Parts: sequence; structure tokens; C-alpha cells
Amino acid sequence: MKLITTAKEMSEYSFSTRSSSEFVGFVPTMGALHLGHISLIKTAKAKCENVVVSVFVNPTQFNDSNDLQNYPRTFESDRKLLENEGVDVMFFPSANEIYPSPEVKHYEMDGLDDPMEGPNRPGHFNGVVQVVTRLFELVKPNVAFFGEKDFQQLAVIRHMTQKLGYDIEIVGCPTEREASGLAMSSRNIRLSNDGRKLASSINLILLEIKNQLALNEPASVVLEQAIADIDQLNGITLEYLELVNPQTLQPVTDDSAAIQACIALYIEEVRLIDNMRVK
Ligand code: PAF
Repeated sequence: MKLITTAKEMSEYSFSTRSSSEFVGFVPTMGALHLGHISLIKTAKAKCENVVVSVFVNPTQFNDSNDLQNYPRTFESDRKLLENEGVDVMFFPSANEIYPSPEVKHYEMDGLDDPMEGPNRPGHFNGVVQVVTRLFELVKPNVAFFGEKDFQQLAVIRHMTQKLGYDIEIVGCPTEREASGLAMSSRNIRLSNDGRKLASSINLILLEIKNQLALNEPASVVLEQAIADIDQLNGITLEYLELVNPQTLQPVTDDSAAIQACIALYIEEVRLIDNMRVK
């Protein structure tokens, strides 16, 4: 596996893969790699001749400096894991390589950044789009792979890739879960054993919403009940629970045909998100 740390070397590499017409798959990550990332990498390996994985904790997508500071950084184990998975390139740039000038670009996301994560993490999606487009320009992939756990992020990236005219296929990959149902996330390592147990109730909450909707309960009633149930759980601070249209991300009505439940909450000061197609 080749380790690339500069923008110049990454551009030269992508020029050479383009010249030899290799089909390039790209998995952008912020490191602290887990089975969720491995599943993205395996999907990329099955589809592409050449797989590039970036590891970059992007400062512009953190609206909370503590969160940025506490974000796990595990370079050595990430490198070994990528090597074992047969990845062709690990791109591990510094912030100066990604942002040579302090200019902040502003992106119009046509409302996809308005609900859920948007108001709770001001500037977050702007930072995500900024880094993802910069990485797209350096890596020049044919296909890029993102986890469905970040459901709103995936919707934003799909939309912006098309809007900004990148000829890159965006592939969404299903959320990997621990045996307890807890969605895999780099942040899980910051939870104590008790915190992890409590966090496994997130999946149960989403499953209960799905069950209630299958019994034809109105979405508004199901949502209200779920929020009341979460309020009873000691140790969980709910940020939002929303039932939204999976394409537009707008809140659903009682007769909506397709519903995605999206949740964000804090356990032990760790912010966790999850989602599920519940109808
Ligand atoms: O999902 C993530 O890990 C990040 O938001 C991403 C897409 C790597 C951009 O920094």
C-alpha cells in the first residue's frame, strides 16, 4: 500500500491512474476505522481496480471545538487495517495540504441542510461539502462510497456531486451494527461499557417505531410516543428524533408512503446518530 501525504503526490497519482484508465474507487474517512469502514472498503474493492482511502479529521465540519479535539486519532492501527484490506493508497494529508488558503467556500444545498443535523451543527454540511469536493478533485475517483449511517450527509453529497457537475457515482452502503444493534461509529470507543449498553437502545427505539407504523398507527402519534419513551431513559439527552421523507428530508405526514426515522442524541457527552427506513 502506498502512503500519500501531500496534495501534489495525490494529484500525480490520480493523473497516472486516469492515464492508464484504471477504475478508481474512493472511500473518504476521518479514521478510527471500524467494521463499518471495512465494509465500505470491501464494497469498493469488489467494484474497482484501484481503491484510495483518505484519513483526514476535517476541522471545517466540526462546529464544536471539544468534539474536534476529542475525535479519536488512531493512525497506526488505521494504516495496518488498510494494508490488510489490500487498499492501494492511504491518503493521509495535513490540514495545510487540504486547505492551502484560509478561504471558506459557501455552498447552496437547496434545503437538504435545513432539517436535523443542519440547525444542530451550524456549518457542518458546508465543511463536509468543502472537504469532499477538495478530495474529489485530488483523488479523481470514478466511484465514491459513503455509509448510510450518515443519512443526511449521503443525501447532501449525492445532491451536491450532481449539482457541482462531478462525474462520480455515489454509492451508499448499509449501516454495520454491533450484535447489540448499536450502529458502528468511530465515536463508540469513547463510551463506557454502561454507555454502550444504553446506546444499544437507539436501535430498539427505531425498531419500535417501525413496528408501530406497521400496525398502521399514525406517524405523528408514533413519533410523540417514541420521544416520550426516550425521555424516560436515564443517561440519554435527545437532540432530535424526526420522521422524514427519505428523498427530500422534509417531515412526513400521517399518510406518507416512505418514512425514514433519524435520531441524534448524547450519551456520556458523546454525540451519536442513527437512522432506519421505518416505512
Ligand atoms: O463521514 C465522514 O467520516 C466525514 O464526514 C467525511 C465524509 C469523511 C468528510 O470528512
